[in-house]
Amino acid sequence: MGNNSDYRLRRRLFEQHFRYSVIDRHQPTQIRETHKLLRKYLESPESWLLDTKYTIGAIILDIVYGYRVTSDRDEWVEIGERAGTNFQRSVKPGAWAVDVLPILRYVPTWLPFTGWKTFALDSTERRKIQVDGAFEMVKQAMKEGTAHPSMVSRYLEENENGGDIPEVAIMDMASDAYGGGVETTLSSIYGFLLQMTKHRSIQQKAQAELDRICPDRLPTFDDRKKLPYIEAIAIEVGRWHPGVPQGIAHRLEKDDSFEGQFLPEGSLVIPNIWGMCHDEGTYEDANVFNPDRFMNAAGDGIDLSVHDPRQMVFGFGRRQCPGRAFAESQLFFTMALILKAFDILPPLDAQGKEIMQPDAYRSGIVSVPKPFSCRIVPRSSAMAELVRQTE
Ligand code: HEM
Repeated sequence: MGNNSDYRLRRRLFEQHFRYSVIDRHQPTQIRETHKLLRKYLESPESWLLDTKYTIGAIILDIVYGYRVTSDRDEWVEIGERAGTNFQRSVKPGAWAVDVLPILRYVPTWLPFTGWKTFALDSTERRKIQVDGAFEMVKQAMKEGTAHPSMVSRYLEENENGGDIPEVAIMDMASDAYGGGVETTLSSIYGFLLQMTKHRSIQQKAQAELDRICPDRLPTFDDRKKLPYIEAIAIEVGRWHPGVPQGIAHRLEKDDSFEGQFLPEGSLVIPNIWGMCHDEGTYEDANVFNPDRFMNAAGDGIDLSVHDPRQMVFGFGRRQCPGRAFAESQLFFTMALILKAFDILPPLDAQGKEIMQPDAYRSGIVSVPKPFSCRIVPRSSAMAELVRQTE
């Protein structure tokens, strides 16, 4: 996270823009870019991995900065991605001795074993280029009257109308959104596609639900309540492999205790989210991917009596992910559209036999599946036509 501005102020600004009650305002961007993704899957299914990444980057860039990507491989997505990687390295729990011994902050960089310090300086510099550049872009567009409404333009306008939000807080909040939002959302979408290559019957059950609710059209956000099985898949994808498996370290502001163990003020607490999501005491056959664990007995609604993993997957307490409502809506929408229009199939070997791929994930604060293969095939020519009509 940025360190220059008041954290509480940034958090409040962020929450105002992303709280549940106003989340619908982002739908036009989500619809435009996710439909575009479907068309790309149709035209060039082999580049699904990059196309998916650029789509999520494009959505966040538009919502945060009002920036509309103009090419398939937009440079701002690349810049944002580099900033995101730096962000992840810098928040990895216990990654740096300085987390444990803050006094190390004062160690000069020329001493041996102080790689963290060089890294911090380097990423601060890079981040500055990214954050200032995107921010200036919005200000310039506002001056020229060409700015698309965004989180940044909204707070700058508030300032023009007498507000006094420090610009650095707006800048840092915007870059937190990019750093926190892209890889995490991608981790779930890639995880979803990987599981779909392995579980044909789950896919068919989801498609039967979609065909019942929207037989001859693509699903919309309004269908969400009527598509509980799609929702259950999204919840199970998060439980199966949480995007931030070891959470973000929290430092205790005062002495505390947990199950009889004393935890002094200042302790770093690192939540084992992956462990909680795979606890056999909570989830039966925790190592089986099974969305049905979140369906009611009649099979027509969600049942979260088993324990909602999103209470863990999005973190804890006052710092729980403020992008949660948006992330959940994007995951639902992406999964529903893909399943309605396409079959997600595993790759084939030379003999035409399906290859089952391992659940291999990159380690890191945000854990994303390692590149894998899948075949994205339109379910029918009618579905392909529906996708073309979104143009
Ligand atoms: C599936 C998608 C996502 C997952 C799994 C996820 C998970 C998390 C987790 C575990 C945390 C740490 C909470 C804690 O400290 O306990 C977090 C923080 C955060 N997330 Fe997300 N997130 C997701 C999507 C997003 C999106 C889409 C955005 C932005 C639009 C976002 C913005 C943030 C920000 C700004 C923070 C820092 C909050 C703070 O420190 O107060 N996240 N997220």
